[in-house]
Amino acid sequence: MASSTKMPNNIILLLLLFLCLSSSFTTSFSAHVCDPDRYKKLSLDMKNFPFCDISQPYAVRVKSLVNSMTTPEKVAQLGNNADGVPRLGLPKYNWWSEALHGVSNVGGGSYFDSQVPGATSFPTPITTTSSFNELLWKNIGQAISTEARAMYNMNHAGLTFWSPNINVVRDPRWGRILETPGEDPYTVGRYAVNFVRGMQDLIGNETSKDPNTRSLKVSTCCKHYAAYDLDSWSTSGSLATDRLHFNSDVTEQDMVETFQRPFEVCVKEGDVSSVMCSYNSVNGIPACADPRLMKGTFRDEWNLHGYIVSDCDSIETMVDDLQWMNDEPENAVAQVMRAGLDLDCMTFYQKYLGNTLAKGLIKEKDMDRALMNNYMVLMRLGYFDNFPEFANLGKADICSQANINLALDAAKQGIVLLKNNKTQKSFLPLDPVQFKGKTIAVVGPHANATKVMIGNYAGVPCRYVSPKDGIAKYANVQYQMGCADVMCRNGSLIWPAVRAARTADATVIVVGLDETIEREGLDRENMELPGYQLQFITQVAHVASGPVVVVILSAGPVNILSLQQNPDIDSILWAGYPGQEGGQAIADVIFGQYNPAGRLPVTWYPPEYVWQLPMTSMQFRPIQSLGYPGRTYKFYSGPSIYPFGYGLSYTQFQYTVVNSTSSIDKQLGTIQHCYTLEYTKSGAAAPPCNAAIVDDLQCVDGDLNIVVNVKNTGQIDGDNVVMVYSQAPAGIAGVPIKKVVGFQKVFVKAGATQTVTFSMNSCESLSIVTESAYVALPAGQHTIIVGTDGSADTVIRTPLKVNINKQGS
Ligand SMILES: *[C@@H]1O[C@H](CO)[C@@H](O)[C@H](O)[C@H]1NC(C)=O
Ligand SMILES: *[C@@H]1O[C@H](CO)[C@@H](O)[C@H](O)[C@H]1NC(C)=O
Ligand SMILES: *[C@@H]1O[C@H](CO)[C@@H](O)[C@H](O)[C@H]1NC(C)=O
Ligand SMILES: *[C@@H]1O[C@H](CO)[C@@H](O)[C@H](O)[C@H]1NC(C)=O
Ligand SMILES: *[C@@H]1O[C@H](CO)[C@@H](O)[C@H](O)[C@H]1NC(C)=O
Repeated sequence: MASSTKMPNNIILLLLLFLCLSSSFTTSFSAHVCDPDRYKKLSLDMKNFPFCDISQPYAVRVKSLVNSMTTPEKVAQLGNNADGVPRLGLPKYNWWSEALHGVSNVGGGSYFDSQVPGATSFPTPITTTSSFNELLWKNIGQAISTEARAMYNMNHAGLTFWSPNINVVRDPRWGRILETPGEDPYTVGRYAVNFVRGMQDLIGNETSKDPNTRSLKVSTCCKHYAAYDLDSWSTSGSLATDRLHFNSDVTEQDMVETFQRPFEVCVKEGDVSSVMCSYNSVNGIPACADPRLMKGTFRDEWNLHGYIVSDCDSIETMVDDLQWMNDEPENAVAQVMRAGLDLDCMTFYQKYLGNTLAKGLIKEKDMDRALMNNYMVLMRLGYFDNFPEFANLGKADICSQANINLALDAAKQGIVLLKNNKTQKSFLPLDPVQFKGKTIAVVGPHANATKVMIGNYAGVPCRYVSPKDGIAKYANVQYQMGCADVMCRNGSLIWPAVRAARTADATVIVVGLDETIEREGLDRENMELPGYQLQFITQVAHVASGPVVVVILSAGPVNILSLQQNPDIDSILWAGYPGQEGGQAIADVIFGQYNPAGRLPVTWYPPEYVWQLPMTSMQFRPIQSLGYPGRTYKFYSGPSIYPFGYGLSYTQFQYTVVNSTSSIDKQLGTIQHCYTLEYTKSGAAAPPCNAAIVDDLQCVDGDLNIVVNVKNTGQIDGDNVVMVYSQAPAGIAGVPIKKVVGFQKVFVKAGATQTVTFSMNSCESLSIVTESAYVALPAGQHTIIVGTDGSADTVIRTPLKVNINKQGS
């Protein structure tokens, strides 16, 4: 503004005029298809196009649109870059936008330039998940979709976003852990539901009598289906493989219990408007080509209201990489079309569908179905009609102070305190008053992290606050990298960092991984911090005169066993990849402005774990004959660096169970059967009716309740995540060690008590998935476990009896 006073007034006027013109042009261009003025400019009369007749239901209009197209015109719309049909006034549309943790420019459907220079970049999902705060996940979805809708109004974004990534983390080596909500299928499902609802729902229109036509704020996509969590595993000689060639050998038990479960919840409870199939094969059939996995599950079983899209480019992968049945492109195209694939990311459909139809391999009706599924979603988004709800969103809604504050809050809530040695003279939090004017050495390859904090599927952030800049708000910072990058191969930079630590009043060492170690397309080889990082940390910590805090940026676990026991290191924080405000969040936690409450969403296995089983082994349960130890906290019983759910606080909490359901009675009718379970322990007291198939039972929400008092017994106010697990009756073969059935985050003032109530459905919370993939409710003594494995928590086990009564017996 100040510099504009130097400009002659007429130039300012011209500039203003230009800005007004350009913004009104872009607004009217992307406002909506069925705008009479738009048609007039195209020298067309909108009245000739019944798909623009708002008096007709969406289904009629969509059918009319599809029936107006010639066969080549239909084909041209079935790739992510849909050509549009000029003679119908239908514009081009790029279906591919991403918004994993903020509006992204990956895919090309959304972009940044001088008019929209950036959008809020929230923490990566692995960090946001660590908050275990469902409301936060929904709020982030709402904030992102508001920015997306504002960018759409400015002709800078599409309306269809291919996020979130809800593949369960099966193996700690996976390169895409940063994109995901971790290893627990229940948590992943809750993340999916909240993110999708936050993004998609119009407030007040969350439900509808006809979900097929329910309005959407933006469209999201749960991906990548199914049994996909291997990218490129290269260290294993003959077992080496990558996602374009991998055949995922899975049992139906693992599919129902783990791999498919978040997708089921995303469709049924999130009412997501799109799903994406993955590159890999599942039990020998490419995921996108299996009619049973695709339309048989998404449409027939789960009743998807939306479209099914391929990964980019899964169809080509079938032909070139999987070489499935040595297909010609047309065979692959026919197979995925028949399986229910509605849209191709990339160009295989557009190139080969014409020929596929000419060869008689599909019906034209199959193409019509796909087009109608796609256009129905655009109808629901107001792409064709004026959606007054969002018309006023614009530049002020992107990177707004409220959204930047939310990004900061999310990063703080996601930070996990792993170590805080309270027998030391000084430990966290550092006192901001005491450190005012003092010097803090901020060292390490991530001390000035910026881009690293936003991970992948990012856009251009509004700004960055690096760790050193965040800490600079509390004290003088002496910054030294210590290592040139995370590979940390060059010892010559260590000495300046050592010198800084020797004289500083405190030292913060920021280390970890980045996308050169873990990313899409690259799995990890081991759990170690790369290069000389450990030596660097140890040397700096040893000479440091003040307290030493290690901050780790990573998605997957890292081997810090030696730091756990090292008395030179007072505290350790894990921040994941914490987004554009990450450095501020780290500083606010270190100085006690926020009391950390994050919990690890993945198990930090010991380093030898990765040598105990190949990444290609898909099974979750241990395989005794091969010595495989089992996967995730549900099935892995060995030692860990930190268990799933671990996370400390600056205060202490004490739990008491105030009230809990002590028994549940379920009835089976005279012609229904008890289900026979397999018991391991001889003499385990099996009830006469072992179990019931859940489909046979009357299931009710709220038949299983537990009320917990959370008392803050320390001196500092703080958040606490109460996690509830269930454990099946002892002696049943093959059941999880325990499983998460609920969590809530609660703020408790020092000395105060808060009451937290969990209301659950026993059919969901107490059921098991049998070896033959039934969901069954076992009778007998279950256990509800409250708390986590966090050492500060008191773990309470509450028994709960399930009786299954068979009528007439
Ligand atoms: C939202 O729901 C209300 C009431 O059901 C309805 O009148 C309104 O048209 C809906 N808005 C949109 C944009 O669908
Ligand atoms: C910190 O990182 C930013 C962004 O990469 C860079 O511009 C700046 O020069 C770095 N600061 C120092 C002191 O190296
Ligand atoms: C190590 O870093 C120093 C300082 O940046 C540089 O002069 C030297 O060439 C580097 N050595 C290697 C082996 O990269
Ligand atoms: C905690 O600090 C005390 C006192 O310096 C030290 O003896 C002990 O080894 C430290 N414990 C850990 C786990 O670092
Ligand atoms: C305890 O729970 C039972 C069953 O849910 C309920 O009837 C009762 O009122 C509860 N008691 C208290 C003290 O909350």
